[in-house]
This record gives sequence, C-alpha cells and structure tokens, in this order.
Amino acid sequence: MSLPKAELHLHIEGTLEPELAFTLAARNGVELPYKDTEELRRAYLFQDLQSFLDLYYGLMAVLHTEDDFAELAEAYLARAATQGVRHAEIFFDPQAHTSRGVPIGTVIEGLARALDRSLERHGISTLLIMCFLRDESAESAMETLDAAKPHLHRIAAVGLDSAEAGHPPSKFREVYKAADALGLRKVAHAGEEGPPAYIREALDVLGVERIDHGLRCMEDPELVERLVRERVPLTLCPLSNVRLRAVDTLEEHPLARMMDAGLLCTVNSDDPAYFGGYVGDTFHAVHEALGLGEERLRELARNSFVASFLEGDEERRAR
Ligand code: HPA
Ligand code: ZN
Repeated sequence: MSLPKAELHLHIEGTLEPELAFTLAARNGVELPYKDTEELRRAYLFQDLQSFLDLYYGLMAVLHTEDDFAELAEAYLARAATQGVRHAEIFFDPQAHTSRGVPIGTVIEGLARALDRSLERHGISTLLIMCFLRDESAESAMETLDAAKPHLHRIAAVGLDSAEAGHPPSKFREVYKAADALGLRKVAHAGEEGPPAYIREALDVLGVERIDHGLRCMEDPELVERLVRERVPLTLCPLSNVRLRAVDTLEEHPLARMMDAGLLCTVNSDDPAYFGGYVGDTFHAVHEALGLGEERLRELARNSFVASFLEGDEERRAR
C-alpha cells in the first residue's frame, strides 16, 4: 500500500531481519542459538510481550559496530521507501546495547549515518526517538540520558518501552522532566499490556504528546473522551497486537471502532521483522481484515503526518 505516510512507531532493532542477523553474527563472531534463518523464524511464535522481548533482546547480540547499526537502519529505510513511507520517527533502545558493552555513541552515530542520507537516497525524512527500558531502573534511564548528551543534536524525543505491566510511567517522572529541560519531545508506550491508568499517567505525569499503542484506552470511556477532546495521537500497531496476543485476531482489532469514536489513530509496524509486515503491509492487512475502505486508509495516512513532529514546510514536503 503506497499511500504517502509517516511511520511513528518503529523500533529500529525490530527491523533486524533473520538474514541480516546471520550476516552480522558471522561478521562479529557471535554464535546464535539457531541453526539457520528458518529455525529462527520458526521461533517467532510469541505468547505475550515478554516472550517477544526475550528473543528480541537476545538477537541484538549481533549488533556491535557503527557499521552494523548503519546497515540495520539503511535496510529499514530502503524497505520503508517501497511501502510509501515519506517520514519516519524511529525508536532505538540504547540500554539494550550499552548493557552489552556497546557504547551509546556507536549506536547513535551508526544509526545517524544511515538517517543523514535517507532523504536524498530514499525520499524519507527521519527523526530519532531514544527509548528508556521501563523494566530497568529510573537511575539507569537518567544515566542513559546523561550519556546521550554529546549526541543530543541527533535526538528529537524520548520514549518509554519494554515490559509494561508493573512499570508505570510515573517511575520515570524525573528523567522525563530532565529530557524536557533539554528540549526533547516526549512520547511513551502505554496501554499495550498495561491498564488505562498508565495512559493517564503518561499524559499527566510525563507530559507526553503522543501515546504509543494506547489500545487499552477502549476499556475506559472517560479516557477515550479525553483523548478525543485533546486530540492525543495514538500510534497503533495492529499486527503487533495480534502477534503479542493483545487481541485474538486482526478481525477483532478495535481500530475501526477507535476511529469511529473520533480518536486520532495512526497505523504502524512496531517490529516489522518479527510481526509479519512493514507499514504498507499493515495498511493492506487492516483493509482486508477490518474492511477499512479507501477513505479510512487515507484518513490514517493523513493522521500520520498530523501526529508527526513535522511542521509547516517539512510536513507539506512529506505529504
Ligand atoms: N512494546 C514494548 N516494548 C517494545 C515493543 C513493544 O511493542 N517493541 C519493542 N520494544
Ligand atoms: Zn513499540
């Protein structure tokens, strides 16, 4: 589906395709616990968010050098261009690398190398969103923000991801305050596996501008009313929700109901190498499974620019 669109919920580590994982493993002398790409793909049967995260963090062991991160991002951008992506706001998880001894500068400068030439090469403008792992401590998040300071010109926003249940947004109040003082914009995953209260906290305590996922707002009609009234964008990821069993089937996904309720919905791929499709594939899938017609798909594509951090001329170019 090649409607021009912005992708706002995309973990760059979640674009690591099995073929590239094996190439990098060989290059870096990393032994993977899978015989080949087929065996690895067969392991992509997830019970929930945590079972995905275990495999996802494990496979990151192949990423070591600036070149590795540049190659990872370049492969995503080349693929995204074929799916109509004109602008991408890209998450990365520095702690998943620094905890393995990879310096944060290697991660950021490697990614930046591919991002810097993306507009020229692929017609895609880009921004980087640095995510904190919410199942790590608030102190570790603060240390990560500190370590990123020499590279802040590369970073547009902070985000919050990883295992949600039991790790409420309020745990990160101080680090979001510090990020805000540094001029960074703010988003957070909330309401994927966690309760609607986490969505309220992300808004009220962290001051986020967008909610990543936000699916479980549908359990709380007052919250839905607020999100509609305040035009808070939600970056939904329907294929991810099916693979991680937040919903049983794509046919039962609440996307259409959420749009009917007046929520500012966008559709994104989350971790496309793991969840069975890039963002254009996701548009196609919701068209087929939910019967969303041309007008609704156009609305989703339009919303993706409205919800993006682009403004004025930049936004007009991308559309
Ligand atoms: N949720 C939380 N953390 C993540 C996800 C997700 O969908 N993908 C990668 N990290
Ligand atoms: Zn995500």
